[in-house]
Amino acid sequence: MSQNRLSTKHVLGIKYLQPEDLHLIFNTALEFKEVINRPIKKVPSLRDITVANLFFENSTRTRISFELAEKRLSADVVNFSASSSSVKKGETLLDTVNNILSMKVDMVVMRHPAPGAPLYLSKRIPANIINAGDGTHEHPTQALLDAFSMKLALNDELKGKNIAIFGDILHSRVAMSNIFCLKKLGANVRLCGPPTLIPKHIQQLGVEVSYDVRETLEWCQVANVLRIQLERQDIKYFPTLREYHQTFGISKSLLDSLDSEVIVMHPGPINRGVELTSDAADSDQSIILDQVENGVAIRMAVLYLLSSLRN
Ligand code: CP
Repeated sequence: MSQNRLSTKHVLGIKYLQPEDLHLIFNTALEFKEVINRPIKKVPSLRDITVANLFFENSTRTRISFELAEKRLSADVVNFSASSSSVKKGETLLDTVNNILSMKVDMVVMRHPAPGAPLYLSKRIPANIINAGDGTHEHPTQALLDAFSMKLALNDELKGKNIAIFGDILHSRVAMSNIFCLKKLGANVRLCGPPTLIPKHIQQLGVEVSYDVRETLEWCQVANVLRIQLERQDIKYFPTLREYHQTFGISKSLLDSLDSEVIVMHPGPINRGVELTSDAADSDQSIILDQVENGVAIRMAVLYLLSSLRN
């Protein structure tokens, strides 16, 4: 029997979700994808709900995507940015959130640089919490939209498919959430990047590791290319960006030289000319902008499903 409720009232990380939760989110997102392609893109599902988007770290895609998803569902929305708030005067996370909740907020979408910050809040406040990225820990809705986009591009389930994740795995919450999500869906996952940017013992999560970009591209059906996170790199993990590009960068000429066509993805923002060249990022093989479109449908699905599990 198919499940019609999530097994948890928060979305803190893919590791806390069951495979049935993932399928429920994908099926619900498919319905919302149809809604957002109608001339009137709005439904009244969250009309009595107020959502606070709390961003303690920069974001373009995730912040706008959540806000659009909330508005398409007719929720009332408040936006909070740490850089223009009383956090700058030393207010704690809990005080900040409790003050916002006193204004009768039902759900909180939060991005924070500290791993575990959304989990901490979920144990202290009554609202549903959605993690929009916590440090190097998890970015669950990114992994959900990535897997949803892969399923649509392959027109198939991901069980048994070969999916490769390239680049800076060590500093990437997107990589961690993708690994948990793809493994729960039965995909074969391989990580590829410089040894310094692949966490030790990561194979214990059931993934393969390769340092050979061409061989990995020949193996996979989907290449999810990640950003080199220079802002999180406290030491030098490779000599220069030029050298990184020469050894681990993916270009259109490399893609064209493969035996079969690989689907190219990137969560953004892209370092053009470093991990991915512009002609690869903008090619017909790229579904990068489809990922962004699908992100709204996935976030509508998550918000909608959590709204029925309110206290
Ligand atoms: N993919 C992603 O999280 O992008 P933003 O940092 O712009 O939200």
